[in-house]
Amino acid sequence: MTIYFRIALFVWLIFGGGLGLAREGPPAAAIASAHPLATQAGHEVLAAGGNAFDAAVAVSAALAVVEPYSSGLGGGGFWLLHLAKEGTDVMLDGRERAPLAATARMYLDETGALIQGASIDGPLAAAIPGQPAALAHLAEHYGRLSLAKTLAPAMGYAREGFEVDKPYRRRAAFRLPVLKRWPAAGQVFLADGKVPVLGARIKQPALAATLEALAQRGAAGFYQGPVAEALVAGVRAAGGIWSREDLAQYQVVERAPVRGQYRGFKIISASPPSSGGIALLTMLNILAEEDLSTLPAATRTHLIIEAMRRAYRDRAQYLGDPDFVDVPVQRLTHPYYGAGLRAGIRLDRATSSADLPGIQSQDSGPHTTHFSVIDREGNRVAATLSINYPFGSGFMPPGTGVLLNDEMDDFAAAPGVPNVYGLIGSQANAIAPGKRPLSSMTPTFVENEQGVLVLGTPGGSRIITMVLLGVLEHVAGADLTHLVSQPRFHHQYFPDEVEYEPQAFAGELVKDLQALGHSLSPRERPWGNMQAVFWDRARKRVKAASDPRGVGEAVVR
Ligand code: GLY
Repeated sequence: MTIYFRIALFVWLIFGGGLGLAREGPPAAAIASAHPLATQAGHEVLAAGGNAFDAAVAVSAALAVVEPYSSGLGGGGFWLLHLAKEGTDVMLDGRERAPLAATARMYLDETGALIQGASIDGPLAAAIPGQPAALAHLAEHYGRLSLAKTLAPAMGYAREGFEVDKPYRRRAAFRLPVLKRWPAAGQVFLADGKVPVLGARIKQPALAATLEALAQRGAAGFYQGPVAEALVAGVRAAGGIWSREDLAQYQVVERAPVRGQYRGFKIISASPPSSGGIALLTMLNILAEEDLSTLPAATRTHLIIEAMRRAYRDRAQYLGDPDFVDVPVQRLTHPYYGAGLRAGIRLDRATSSADLPGIQSQDSGPHTTHFSVIDREGNRVAATLSINYPFGSGFMPPGTGVLLNDEMDDFAAAPGVPNVYGLIGSQANAIAPGKRPLSSMTPTFVENEQGVLVLGTPGGSRIITMVLLGVLEHVAGADLTHLVSQPRFHHQYFPDEVEYEPQAFAGELVKDLQALGHSLSPRERPWGNMQAVFWDRARKRVKAASDPRGVGEAVVR
């Protein structure tokens, strides 16, 4: 081999090969979702020539059928997209909107007290759904296949039924009174007014017909015509305030995701009206100057808790729908701002939340769903979808098969008035006609030259801290399985306590944190259902993992 040939080979290997690495897509596609049938639906669509966005339509719609307590056509969500060819990211905001007849004090009585249950149960609790419009938008602007193809698996599950499992039974038992109150929902989701037995089949022919209308006519199949008429008539007959105009006006919004850096990793996450990305970046910026791996466990955990406390304080103070309030995104996600918050943290004692300036905070609960997808071209989707509380509002307008959300409870009913979880928000998140309620959903990408992580989870206000702990473990080099299964802890400013899962604080850590002044609140029941995929570019591998707390499935194919 001549010296020139060796040099040429060297140059090709370094530059040509290197560029090749950058251009190459993943060696396999991967989907992680909260239900095996949803993961299967996504892979079927990929096998039929669809891309990650087609798969996202199929998975979202399948989850709407087989996880009816978490998300659905009657709800909304955020779909964080990465377009491999263009190298761009976009967030589809399919969040619900308050009805046009909504008023700031609609859940308060004349004394200003919250009317118990009004923002949680029944048609008055339901905001205008965004998921059908988001699926139509995804298909029209990003997918390759028709909605008829991508919705086909979900329509099949709705017609043929799916089997009741333990998570279904647990949530149906929790929402039994409200499901019994509204006959159309009870007939579908209960068996003679009782929680169905394990293995019973839940068939949803009316939902299949609504999916068919969406497949045939796109968004108009849901927001106009017979489905829209039945939705509005059902809501109004039961005391709700929806109008035809509410449905006709609903629009998906494409928004720029929030972006930041953490110790050499690019973070791309959900922007307002989700609080998720901003709070995540605030926490990472607070922690950025520390090499957490070198700190004693008590100091590391203390710092993370204090970062959570401060980010959730800002969430309560500043965040709301950006189409209605000015959200200081640049300031809250700026590294200097995080550094300023870090300067107020003492290493020898917990801050009392009451000593931080201002207002109080928001929500948590066993609802919502998340899935992560990557295709062989490197397109990817992180989507977190919700109908809020388990089985949403429990209300289904007769004839539609569409279980409505109770996302109105994500608004602050009034400053200082706690929501269902005993938590409080500010004027920025007050109810207004057409406004989107503040969310905690945090679909996120984490990237460096080694690879790309796609992750997210359900879990109310705990979503953001779960994603934080996932990102920290990923940056520390943890395996994907550990990332989705690690025991969790959470602080949200108010109540001023650290909730933690069994095993989250090993050895002396409980005593050490108490000595620093933290109030600890152990929780028997685990939380979250994280779904993650990782394209390890350097090793040319794709991995996927589904949280062992749920019954989901992660498949690389
Ligand atoms: N409904 C849960 C959330 O959006 O945060």
